[in-house]
Amino acid sequence: MTTPRDDQVTHSARAHSFNAAAAQYAANRPSYPPALFDAIEELTGRPLAGSRVVDIGAGTGIATARLHARGADVIALEPGEGMAAEFRRALPGVPVVRGSGNALPFASHRADLLTYAQSWHWTDPARAVPEAVRVLRPGGALALWWNTSALDVPWIAEAADRAARHFGFDFSAEKRNLGAHTADFAGRLDVIRHDVRWSRRVPLDTHLANLGSHSLFLLQGEERSAAYLAEERRHVLDVFPDGTVEETYDVLLLLATTPAPTRRVSTA
Ligand SMILES: C[S@@+](CC[C@H](N)C(=O)[O-])C[C@H]1O[C@@H](n2cnc3c(N)ncnc32)[C@H](O)[C@@H]1O
Repeated sequence: MTTPRDDQVTHSARAHSFNAAAAQYAANRPSYPPALFDAIEELTGRPLAGSRVVDIGAGTGIATARLHARGADVIALEPGEGMAAEFRRALPGVPVVRGSGNALPFASHRADLLTYAQSWHWTDPARAVPEAVRVLRPGGALALWWNTSALDVPWIAEAADRAARHFGFDFSAEKRNLGAHTADFAGRLDVIRHDVRWSRRVPLDTHLANLGSHSLFLLQGEERSAAYLAEERRHVLDVFPDGTVEETYDVLLLLATTPAPTRRVSTA
């Protein structure tokens, strides 16, 4: 039987597991589609160009690079040295600060937007929400998002079932749980949900290395991962015999806005 303490240890080990595989992560993980950043601009009512953005849990800079390319004035925050080192290699011109989303090392009321690309679930919302509200200017927003597997695509659902049997892990429940992060803001901020479907075509090796860069794989050890991925290679080749895999994702975006400053109306 697992105890809450075991769960905490596992959560923390998973949160830090990426550092040992940062180069693999940077080379193989999917990025995010332009439609996601269009949606953020539309929902916040503000262009990213010129906005002061902090990208929290920036990892190797996959999301930061997109924000920077859209003209945002972006600073990255990343707790792990392995990921931060890879970030510096990829984006030498963008500042990256070491720290956690639970205790932001930034002055109050400075940022227009805080982004958490696949990183919010590693924070402790009891600390991360008040910290975000402190650092955002009034009317500023937080955007949390995750690339989730499109489980209505038959081969992706079958692959998720195989992984679920292997890890004893329910991937569709995890997908539902991400949406439940709206509750982290209950009573404080209103949250809007927006979904964006997109896909990418990648060599089979990239697909497998992407899978292997997930925390569940990183924690189970190389030998077990290699055996699983060798088996997975055979299954995926049945679907894509030419060795080019079409991965389909639903980006789940949650956007929360802080109350705008109240205008003083002069009665004079
Ligand atoms: C799945 S990676 C996402 C990286 C990047 N944002 C991306 O889109 O590729 C999760 C990142 O969250 C970081 N992380 C773990 N705990 C965190 C915390 N408490 N606060 C902020 N980031 C955290 C990890 O070090 C890792 O770089």
